Amino acid sequence: MISASHLTKDYGTVVAVRDVSFEVGRGEVVGFLGPNGAGKSTTLRILAGFLGATSGQVSIAGHDVTREPLLAREKLGYMPEAAPLYPEMRVREYLSFRAAIKRVPRKQRRSRVDQAMEQAGVRDMADTLILHLSKGYRQRVGLADALVAAPPLLILDEPTAGLDPNQIREVRKLVRELGKTHTILLSTHILSEVETTCDRALVIDRGKLVAEGTLAELTRLGKSKTLQAELSDPERRAEAALAGMPGVVTLRRGDPSDTLYLDLAAEAVAADVAQEVARRCVNAGIGVRSLVPSKTTLEEVFSALTEAEPPAPAAPTTPAANPGAPPEAPKASTNGDAG
Ligand SMILES: Nc1ncnc2c1ncn2[C@@H]1O[C@H](COP(=O)(O)OP(=O)(O)OP(=O)(O)O)[C@@H](O)[C@H]1O
Ligand SMILES: [Mg+2]
Repeated sequence: MISASHLTKDYGTVVAVRDVSFEVGRGEVVGFLGPNGAGKSTTLRILAGFLGATSGQVSIAGHDVTREPLLAREKLGYMPEAAPLYPEMRVREYLSFRAAIKRVPRKQRRSRVDQAMEQAGVRDMADTLILHLSKGYRQRVGLADALVAAPPLLILDEPTAGLDPNQIREVRKLVRELGKTHTILLSTHILSEVETTCDRALVIDRGKLVAEGTLAELTRLGKSKTLQAELSDPERRAEAALAGMPGVVTLRRGDPSDTLYLDLAAEAVAADVAQEVARRCVNAGIGVRSLVPSKTTLEEVFSALTEAEPPAPAAPTTPAANPGAPPEAPKASTNGDAG
């Protein structure tokens, strides 16, 4: 549904996105995860056709966003970071206006607007001025806007940003619901959001894609894998019994001393090692009270992947050989809301 190939975007000397490639298949709900300033919004705006890439290609449902922009855009509903709502319009009026811009045929507009309001849970607010809506409801109007032309793909930039915990829960529920009938790419810097709403995640950091996979796959990227064994081993025979176990790098006695920690090799499968530990202990007459693989949390993986390196200087590209060059490139004006 989305194919991004070698996307790069510079803003003057800042490289916001560098050589990013990925695919999102039909029906997937994918999280685009990264810390602040990672390049999430920039990438999503490129995908949605609101911003041109410096280089690289994007196709949406088989349509190249630069060669066939209208066909590509018809396939997607985009909810920007700050939805450009018109405060003096009423919700229904605003959505009808958006539907017209998106070329929803006049005869279908009313029913499309009704359905989008229903899906986004703003039906009760149809006649309310946007000005009078709470932040959570405005967010929902942004979502209704993305839905109004009934696109098969939704691109949502931080749909839960700035909401209170109840609103967050509701928006996540909504996204899960919409995920049954849509392909969704949503950005977030909150891991639990990916855990609760997405099938898969793309992790971006400082403009680069640093990992990609299902949550289980990402969790497996965790560096440390340990197996914790609680033994009944008063004579301390476990070390001898478990010596030379395949897949075990080190063996450590814990505190209390009937706990043993086995650090596993990256390629080891914890369940297989656990089975072998149990077998050897039983053969040696050592009691096994529990065997628990320590689970690397996604949180740990995320911080390992996006660990702060010494901050890269903002590409000092002014060459010494060109002392006359202006100190700062003019800022590209990129805030086009082409509707
Ligand atoms: N119009 C612009 N001009 C110059 N630099 C920009 C512009 N927009 C974004 N940047 C820079 O590009 C980088 C990526 O920004 P982007 O907004 O894509 O990040 P993000 O992942 O969406 O962050 P956040 O989580 O804070 O929304 C940042 O360093 C940002 O300062
Ligand atoms: Mg952003």
